[in-house]
Amino acid sequence: MKKRVYCDFAATTYVSSEVLNEMLPCFNTIFGNASSLHGYGRDAVALVDKARDRVQKAIGAEKPSEVYFTSGGTEANNWALKGLARANSAKGKHIITSAIEHDSVLEACKQLEEEGFEVTYLPVDSKGLVSITDLIHNLRPTTCLVSIMAVNNEIGTIQNIKTIANLTHDYGAIFHTDAVQALGAIKLNVKDMEIDALSISSHKIYGPKGVGALYVKQGIKIDPIIAGGSQERGLRGGTSNVPGIVGFGKAIEIANRDLMINQKKLKSIRLYFLNQVMEKIPYVTVNGHPYQKVQGTINLSFEMVEAEALLMLLDMEGIAVSTGSACTSGSPLPSHVLKAIGLSNEFAKGSLRFSFGKSTTKADVDYIIEKLVASVAKLREMSPVSKAGRRKKKA
Ligand SMILES: Cc1ncc(COP(=O)(O)O)c(C=O)c1O
Repeated sequence: MKKRVYCDFAATTYVSSEVLNEMLPCFNTIFGNASSLHGYGRDAVALVDKARDRVQKAIGAEKPSEVYFTSGGTEANNWALKGLARANSAKGKHIITSAIEHDSVLEACKQLEEEGFEVTYLPVDSKGLVSITDLIHNLRPTTCLVSIMAVNNEIGTIQNIKTIANLTHDYGAIFHTDAVQALGAIKLNVKDMEIDALSISSHKIYGPKGVGALYVKQGIKIDPIIAGGSQERGLRGGTSNVPGIVGFGKAIEIANRDLMINQKKLKSIRLYFLNQVMEKIPYVTVNGHPYQKVQGTINLSFEMVEAEALLMLLDMEGIAVSTGSACTSGSPLPSHVLKAIGLSNEFAKGSLRFSFGKSTTKADVDYIIEKLVASVAKLREMSPVSKAGRRKKKA
């Protein structure tokens, strides 16, 4: 059988066997509706409560009731932006976010603009960091909400969340962070980091797809996201996805337990990969912050190469990588994140994201490198650009 190497863990992960084993009884044994009043319902509620406790502990929240289960990060982000902005608009209708957020934040902001909110999109520097000075200059007494992602999904840059949250509070505004890519990659503690609301997702941490959570600090007002049910304290109606929630609870517990060991392993894989790339492939640059970044995600620009063609050649060799985020791959436009860090269209369109996971081995990396070296050389040989000369990195 042909060798296959998965190198797209930032897009999604497989479900780990520990998680799957905990989920299985929820499909046919403990299958009750968590809203039912009988014993079957109570059994299901007990499992949902246990999962909520696990999420609460993993993110350092004060109470389990501050955790609301959702269908994933996209819903959590939509809910946070719209629910918090609408419920707190009496303070003012100004929102601050960044230019490199996930589309679920950016699109929610666009919808809020149509409702009369004003949104400031902070730029980032060439490493993907929001400038604290820029934030200070843009905070106003009418700012009701600031939403800045903890870790970027394309380049892995980690923002200075605590400082941003602290300044947001100086202006009496609410601070939300999209922590989907941070979960399992950096230590998250909502109290220490002064976070009021936080979005997370299960399928990035070896849990099932279609489940996530929004943390909302007790006392903070938020409008409901889905009407028509008393679930999630009346704020998010719909029969609870018990197997998904149970899986997420187990996955987050494991992610927290194994955080250090996983990150240490990923760091050694990353360095092993990067050293070989730099040694064997000319005209490659690493995008993102040199050290304030997560270990598992690496974004590389290959000069004189179309990233989509490279992705396809690698795919033919059984290697799975990605151009930009999974949600926008396939789009003809260059990534908004790579444009925001100042890359020219040519550099942005020559960029690939490699993301490693806890099962990635050095043998996997060796295989990726072998095929990458050959594929890049092949594409450059065919490229009219390589004959005409190298292009400019900056836009
Ligand atoms: C930073 C970030 N936010 C939000 C999401 C959306 O999460 P979900 O896939 O659970 O809807 C993703 C998924 O790629 C992400 O990377």
